[in-house]
Amino acid sequence: MRSLDWHDGRLLLIDQRKLPEHHHQLHITTVDELIDAITSLAVRGAPALGIAGAFGVALSASRHADSGRPGADAVRADADRIARSRPTAVNLSRGVARALSALDRGADAVLAAARALLEEDERINRAAARHAADYLLETTSRRPLRVLTHCNTGSLATGAWGTALGAIRDLHGRGLIDEVLATETRPLLQGARLTVWELQRDGIPVRLCPDGAAASAVQNGAVDCVVVGADRVTQNGDVANKIGTYPLALAAARHGVPFVVVAPRSSVDETTATGAGIPIEQRSPDEVTSLAGTRTAPPGTSVYNPAFDVTPHALVSAVVTECGVRESKAPARELAELLGSRTAVVADFPFLGVAFQDLAGVYRHPGLLRTAAREIAGRARGRCNVVVGVEAGGFVLAAVVAAEAGLPLVLARRSGKTPGKTHSVSYRTAYSSDALDVPAGALGAGHRVLVVDDVLATGGTLAAARSVVEASGATVTRCAVLTEIAELKGAARLAPTPVDALRTATAATHTVPGGEPS
Ligand code: MRU
Repeated sequence: MRSLDWHDGRLLLIDQRKLPEHHHQLHITTVDELIDAITSLAVRGAPALGIAGAFGVALSASRHADSGRPGADAVRADADRIARSRPTAVNLSRGVARALSALDRGADAVLAAARALLEEDERINRAAARHAADYLLETTSRRPLRVLTHCNTGSLATGAWGTALGAIRDLHGRGLIDEVLATETRPLLQGARLTVWELQRDGIPVRLCPDGAAASAVQNGAVDCVVVGADRVTQNGDVANKIGTYPLALAAARHGVPFVVVAPRSSVDETTATGAGIPIEQRSPDEVTSLAGTRTAPPGTSVYNPAFDVTPHALVSAVVTECGVRESKAPARELAELLGSRTAVVADFPFLGVAFQDLAGVYRHPGLLRTAAREIAGRARGRCNVVVGVEAGGFVLAAVVAAEAGLPLVLARRSGKTPGKTHSVSYRTAYSSDALDVPAGALGAGHRVLVVDDVLATGGTLAAARSVVEASGATVTRCAVLTEIAELKGAARLAPTPVDALRTATAATHTVPGGEPS
């Protein structure tokens, strides 16, 4: 199904204001009609707006060519009006700019550019959707999947197929969708009116969920992942999307559920550094004070009605485009620098030749430890269901990571400190030998473990921790540390288990010998 098409000099749009009751098509022949369709949401959704904007420039170019005037300035003025008609989705101004770039070659070239945008959209969406579906399968374990989505990101919001809804269609095609929870998406109900309509047409099981019930669905374990679209993704990975997206991301982060954004590359705005730079459209109070033409608030009620919110990248598991998966790496550089500035390196401590990474300054900084823990928790989201902290430095970080991720914490302690039965793995370093114990029964098959320590040097301690976790029957899916000493190649030793190190230190004199499980 196409939400928009070009025929006989007109832009044909499904009037999305009228769905699901009426399937009515608009025939747009002027820029003013198009701007009205865009601002009233007859056509909507970031990719669809980009295509519609390009056809708007084509309408203007053809009109000014017909009038016999050179018209380039007039077309540019029209293009500018179209681009500014809705400010948040970057696709609109991008689509307009792409069509305008053909203006020197005449009105037919402008139309060809708009047509190309429409034609390539389905292929782009299918590619992004396929990547996203694969990523969701990698980061969730229940089959078939229960997916929560917000607003409408399907064929109506794009040229065809859809972005987040495209990923759901892809999964459904593989027989892997149990059900979709679709939020109503107040105030204009794109979820209730459009997403449910699209899913029902495709025979995909869907339940409609009031916006206010979505967080509790995540809390109650009713969904395995949250998948949404985007109107603009900034350079650092912040995401502007339909109002109500941010609370879903908060709930997903709180409950360790993957929160995945699917969008075409044309929604990624590398020229805007962070979400703070995104213009957020404010819409009419009437959308909130009345419903289907009936007043729902007293006359004169003041209203707060932003059309979009911004989800910080730290809450986003991944942004997926047709180019692939970009997992959230949070403010990686700033965080690494902050950690470095608060880490003291003490030469020849506790032994000659050892450069000791003293993290006490990190622990004294209110907020820094939590930011670091959030980052680690974010990278592990959906991949791990239990955190193991390694004595002693690992305990500090692991406790905060577990609390941030909402996951249980198990302690891997040095020998003789864990009461009752234990699993135990001995290991030795060049200057001592020890063992790591975990309580018997604390871990088992089905546990996907994130092992947390403070520093990764040669990898001996983490390798021992991995061994003891595996001796319990669980699987280590990830390790995380605040600091990695790169020269000592601990991460290579732990391969194929991925290691998240928030900071890489170079300490040529650091010769802490690693432990060997024995
Ligand atoms: O105001 P709308 O309906 O144009 O909102 C835009 C959207 O459709 C959503 O924010 C969507 O999630 C991203 S665009 C596929």
